[in-house]
Amino acid sequence: MSESSAFYITTPIYYVNDVPHIGHAYTTIAADVLARHNRMIGRDTFFLTGTDEHGQKIQQAASAKGLTAQQLADQTVENFKRLWKVLNITNDDFIRTTEERHERVVQHIFSKLLEKGDIYLGSYEGWYCVPCETYVPEAQMGEGNTCPDCKRPLQKMTEESYFFRMSKYQDRLLEYYESHPEAILPKSRYNEIVSFIKGGLKDQSISRTTLTWGVPVPGDSRHVVYVWFDALINYLSALGYPDEGGKWRKFWPVCHHLVGKDIIRFHSVVWPALLMALDLEPPKMVFAHGWWTVDGDKMSKSKGNVVDPFEMAELYGPDPFRYFLLREVPFGLDGDFSERGLVQRINSDLANDLGNLLNRTLQMMTKYRGGVVPSRVCPTKLESSIRAMGEDVTAQVDSLLERFAFDEALKAIWSFIGRANKYIDETMPWKLGNEGRGEELDRVLRTLFEALKLSAQLVYPFMPDAAARIWSQLGLDGQVGEGRIRWSFDPIPEVRVTKGEVLFPRIDVKAWEEEYAKRLAKRAGADTDMDYSDHEEEVTIDHFKRVELRVAEVLSAEPVPKSDKLYKLELDLGYEKRTIVSGIRDFYRAEELVGKRIIVICNLKPSVIRGVKSNGMLLAAESPSKSNFTLGLLTVDRDVPLGSRIH
Ligand code: MSP
Repeated sequence: MSESSAFYITTPIYYVNDVPHIGHAYTTIAADVLARHNRMIGRDTFFLTGTDEHGQKIQQAASAKGLTAQQLADQTVENFKRLWKVLNITNDDFIRTTEERHERVVQHIFSKLLEKGDIYLGSYEGWYCVPCETYVPEAQMGEGNTCPDCKRPLQKMTEESYFFRMSKYQDRLLEYYESHPEAILPKSRYNEIVSFIKGGLKDQSISRTTLTWGVPVPGDSRHVVYVWFDALINYLSALGYPDEGGKWRKFWPVCHHLVGKDIIRFHSVVWPALLMALDLEPPKMVFAHGWWTVDGDKMSKSKGNVVDPFEMAELYGPDPFRYFLLREVPFGLDGDFSERGLVQRINSDLANDLGNLLNRTLQMMTKYRGGVVPSRVCPTKLESSIRAMGEDVTAQVDSLLERFAFDEALKAIWSFIGRANKYIDETMPWKLGNEGRGEELDRVLRTLFEALKLSAQLVYPFMPDAAARIWSQLGLDGQVGEGRIRWSFDPIPEVRVTKGEVLFPRIDVKAWEEEYAKRLAKRAGADTDMDYSDHEEEVTIDHFKRVELRVAEVLSAEPVPKSDKLYKLELDLGYEKRTIVSGIRDFYRAEELVGKRIIVICNLKPSVIRGVKSNGMLLAAESPSKSNFTLGLLTVDRDVPLGSRIH
């Protein structure tokens, strides 16, 4: 296979702070359609997806759940992997940014660019929110220089940071985009990016000293690599860059990075500049798709309207869900998801059009020909025109998929399916059968068989499972999608069709409306975000007595160095003083804690946390709401002596 036939396609790598939703499913399904299509037309394809596991977002989500960031990543990554199985995604690799094969490459690139002078140590100045641990851009600051999220005053901070000399690549980037207008699609995004670059590029801060959950900067352990710099590199690390024998030699430059519109800048400004610094070619194309709303509303956890792709696949099947997402909305535009719309499309496009074509054909083939496909037929102009249409639609689909026009490709396929259904109405094979007009009947049945075979192949990238079922009901050997088939009216060896399960059962809309209303009511009643599930097994009073709980007073609280969450607390138990380490810094200021009477487990095995020996543990209540997580310390409601035991 020639080098030029290599086809590399990627999705963004998804953050592991949350469960997968429709947005994640959307890009991955689109990439899967293109990967399947390109494999089918004989290109050597590599399809990559994965997870983005470092950074503050993940660290915060983990500590809110009482997990380490690695534990959270290890748990969440399984949801993504499971979803890709459920949705029949054929990724060739799955990269996690916490894998050694990735971290090694991030450090390699960092060192290489440092050596080259494209990375330098400088300082970052900005308005910082200490409780939120984040810089707030001036445009987003609240009145009186306050944080837009927590409303507390911001501090002007100067922090040491490594920078990527992005400004140096401004002209080269512009030249590249001027000579490659197809490198960013849709066109509106291209224009947006080009004018952004023309506005002047600043060097990009690419390290942080305010958190520890990241790839350590080589040779300077005070810094970790900024999560976006780390994440973008996945597209190379997964290909074994910079190893001589790595797949990147064959697959770089990437053909398509599919991304959502919100992350286009990272992909079409920072990333290509970085690649230029590495003397590698920029991506051939970055495509930014639109965002989904749900029944006209922005999707959000608090509204409880987040579309769960597992639920959709379970209720309607992965194929209809895949079909709907790509059929409903042009890929570059925003779209609105409605389950009702999905049900309508299942009934009309899938059950009525495609399902019926298969059903009617197989029924007649069984009734009039004992299931055997007519081998010798003599096509007329009518049949030749249907074949010509099939060939034309195939060529259209190829070129529409080159332009990411999934919806139009599907429309073209359905125009062909519609034509085939109309052909049945025109030729009335049941009449031919009943009147004993064998030759004409054979011609019709064979034409329908060929039309279905082609339809199976055309829908295969979108609905692989349905395509395989059509293939097997048609009695065909091999796998659909293995390679391009030819439409032929030539004699064939015996093929016997078998009517199997209905391809797409019709949904009874009235029953569905009732079930849907119930589901909505249930969802509105339940705070979907609350988790009350951590009930433990029963314990006896003796078990409880073995835990030594006592009242203690907080004498002092100070942050544990190199940690964002931890305090070192000095406690007075009346009969002794002791030190504990506690991860409550997000929830209490040090001065709020001093003087508080709290409850401590005194006979907990001591442990060393971030170099500090912790001799006990305080008790706190945690809210079950994950998105609005809060925490309150347990205390006593009257003045009992310090060291009093809790019974
Ligand atoms: N980790 C980064 C990407 C790094 S790539 C080197 C990230 N992850 S994400 O999990 O937050 O988002 C992944 C993708 O989901 C983005 O492309 C984003 O556009 C997409 N979507 C998030 N919500 C969406 C919708 N409501 N609709 C469609 N896509 C949406 O960003």
